[in-house]
Amino acid sequence: MTDLHNKSFSTRAVHAGERAPRGDYVPVVAPIHPTVGFLYDSMDDLDGVFAATREGYVYPRYGSPTVAAFETAVAELEGGEAAFAFASGMAAVHVALLAAGVRAGTPVVAALDLYGATFVLLSRLLAELGAQIRFVEVSDLAAVEAALNEARPVALLAETISNPLIKVADVPALAGLAHRYGAQLLIDNTFASPYLFNPLAHGTDYVVHSATKYIGGHGDVMAGVVVTSAANRRKLDETNKLVGSVLGPFEAWLAMRGLKTLPLRVGQQCANAAQVAEWLSAQKKIAHVNYPGLPAHPQHDLARRLFGERGFGGMLSFEIADADRARIFRFMEALELCLPATTLGDIYTLVLHPATSSHRGLSEQERAKVGICDGLVRLSAGIEDAADIIADLDQALARTI
Ligand SMILES: Cc1ncc(COP(=O)(O)O)c(C=O)c1O
Repeated sequence: MTDLHNKSFSTRAVHAGERAPRGDYVPVVAPIHPTVGFLYDSMDDLDGVFAATREGYVYPRYGSPTVAAFETAVAELEGGEAAFAFASGMAAVHVALLAAGVRAGTPVVAALDLYGATFVLLSRLLAELGAQIRFVEVSDLAAVEAALNEARPVALLAETISNPLIKVADVPALAGLAHRYGAQLLIDNTFASPYLFNPLAHGTDYVVHSATKYIGGHGDVMAGVVVTSAANRRKLDETNKLVGSVLGPFEAWLAMRGLKTLPLRVGQQCANAAQVAEWLSAQKKIAHVNYPGLPAHPQHDLARRLFGERGFGGMLSFEIADADRARIFRFMEALELCLPATTLGDIYTLVLHPATSSHRGLSEQERAKVGICDGLVRLSAGIEDAADIIADLDQALARTI
């Protein structure tokens, strides 16, 4: 394995996880191992692998080499001891909550502004199973402290940059508060990506990613990953042996390939998002733009302090003035370059209507409480030329709004 000690992020992104020792030759790129079984000369060796006294693989639900290479790479880029990969980001969120100790009767405090399925996982499924879920506005640290003090939860969950309102969480402050009240901090770092921010370095216990987004980056693979301590990884492993949401080797290989260009892509996406946000802010038809790179963003200084050196992210959202759902649909249909596909973090610029897609699972009242109105559009900047993205938004606004 290449020695990555003290190497820069771009260098580590290219080489991390590759060339694990394997016999008398070394493939440059981690191979895809589609096998379900692994054979050993002696049953004692197999027994040793089961007992974790010897390295190796027995069955892909317990671990497999291509997935392990991907996990090593993400752990390296997040600065964590270990990582565990999943078949999707939702599986990663779910199993991380279980590993953190969420059970019937345990309190959990979570950010109000979260990816829709995460909100519904907490407010419906886990709540129906008996967990006591409490949502709080995480930009209000006094409110977070009051919730932690009252609930004494096992876990506090927030997104570094929230979906879809693009609020920035003060992760170091949240870690301090969570630990003061005996909670573990779980941070969904999907929107920031490991290139912009490493929450573990700021006291986070579990970092979660939908690797379907920036890590994969090309809109062709679904995956999730959690980065944490070696001890917590064992909890994820034990839980997922039973839950069974394992990443396949082909997906692991694609996600790992995506990782190599993460800094190049995210750098360009940040630059494009900044230009688009600035242009949208100057348009009369746009009532409001949520982008942490804009000085008017409520957490602009915080974002600058946490990750602004590398950029303010590739995600933004904006409200079209006085537009109802039908008008927003016409606007999205009129786009010729930006794709109205329900994902984000890809090389393509993508737009999405949160009220009817990512946050469809919330009731109208829940959406109103979070602040997701019908006129809100989320944009994930791709790596195209910013001028082309802006020209496309311009022509669609002119034709439909
Ligand atoms: C912030 C965030 N977390 C988690 C997820 C879930 O990821 P996946 O779709 O890979 O299950 C998403 C999906 O959009 C997301 O935006």
